[in-house]
Order: sequence, then structure tokens, then C-alpha cells
Amino acid sequence: MAYKLTVNGRLETVDVPAETPLLWVIRDTLSLHGTKYGCGMALCGCCTVHLDGVAVRSCTTPISKAAGKHVTTLEGLSADGTHPVQIAWTEIDVPQCGYCQAGQMMTASALLAKNPKPTDADIDAAMDGNICRCGTYLRVRKAIHKAAEIAAKQTKAPATASELTQPVELAAIVSEKE
Ligand code: FES
Ligand code: FES
Repeated sequence: MAYKLTVNGRLETVDVPAETPLLWVIRDTLSLHGTKYGCGMALCGCCTVHLDGVAVRSCTTPISKAAGKHVTTLEGLSADGTHPVQIAWTEIDVPQCGYCQAGQMMTASALLAKNPKPTDADIDAAMDGNICRCGTYLRVRKAIHKAAEIAAKQTKAPATASELTQPVELAAIVSEKE
């Protein structure tokens, strides 16, 4: 059966059985390999993606539940690596083997979208289901705090720029007229 869904901003039509896990549609049908398979039972978090902005386990989400919705995978966080989570993960050098990190980043970005300034407790609660066999949990927590700081600066940047440029432009106009 054919299903339509938007993946990373692109409308896609996939022809697969209704029970096909979203994970396999993403990886095998659409060839987006950032999303990983770990347990296949919603236990490890490796396969986490956003479905209409909410972090879900794609290994246990059938395509029939994703039809008509917006899916974001690791590849869709940003095209140029400027998502705060991408920047923070690089700065803090979070990954070890890297296998779980797509899922960690997708859960982290969903958390920050609804809670821009999470506490340690908020982070621990949100990240609880994302298992890392390399034990990067402390770096993940640090990177989420860092991403929150970066996101706050990115949000403030346009206002600051306009605050700076407007008086300069006004001053230039005034001085030209004088
Ligand atoms: S592969 Fe989906 S939660 Fe483990
Ligand atoms: S970095 Fe290796 S499993 Fe998490």
C-alpha cells in the first residue's frame, strides 16, 4: 500500500506493507542511514526520530501510524550542522563508538524544543530510555546544557544585530543630513 509522509521536509510516497516499521522505511526505502537499529523492541533508543516533533522509537512505529505526518531524522536536524545539538555534540566530543548517538541527539533535540532550559533532572528523565553501551551519559548531559546555551544565543542573535545596526544606520542617516 502507498503511504505519503514528509521526511526532513520532503514529501515522500512509499509502497510498503502497513506493519512495516518506520525504521526500515527510513533506512531501506529512503536510504537515510543515520537512524540506527539496536533492539527492535523500543528498549534502547538507537532508532529515535521525531514524528510531528515528538521523539518516537521508529523500530516499533508502523508506517501506517506515520502516514501524513512529519518525520525528522538525524539528517534533518540541519543541513549545515548548525543545529545547537549538532554544535554542542561536536564541541563536547560526545560520541565514543557513536552507534547510539543519532538516537541520543534526536531525543535531546525533542527535549530542548519543548524545554529550552532543562535541569539535570529533566535531562535524566528525558534521556532515560536512550542506552549507551560506551557510557557517554555525562557527556550527553553536558552537551544538552551546552546546546541549550547555544540555542538561547541563536534566538537572541537577530534582535541583538538589529539593536546594533539600527542605531548605526540611523546615526549614518542623521550625520549625512547634518
Ligand atoms: S532499535 Fe528501536 S529502541 Fe532499540
Ligand atoms: S557511544 Fe557507543 S553506544 Fe553510545
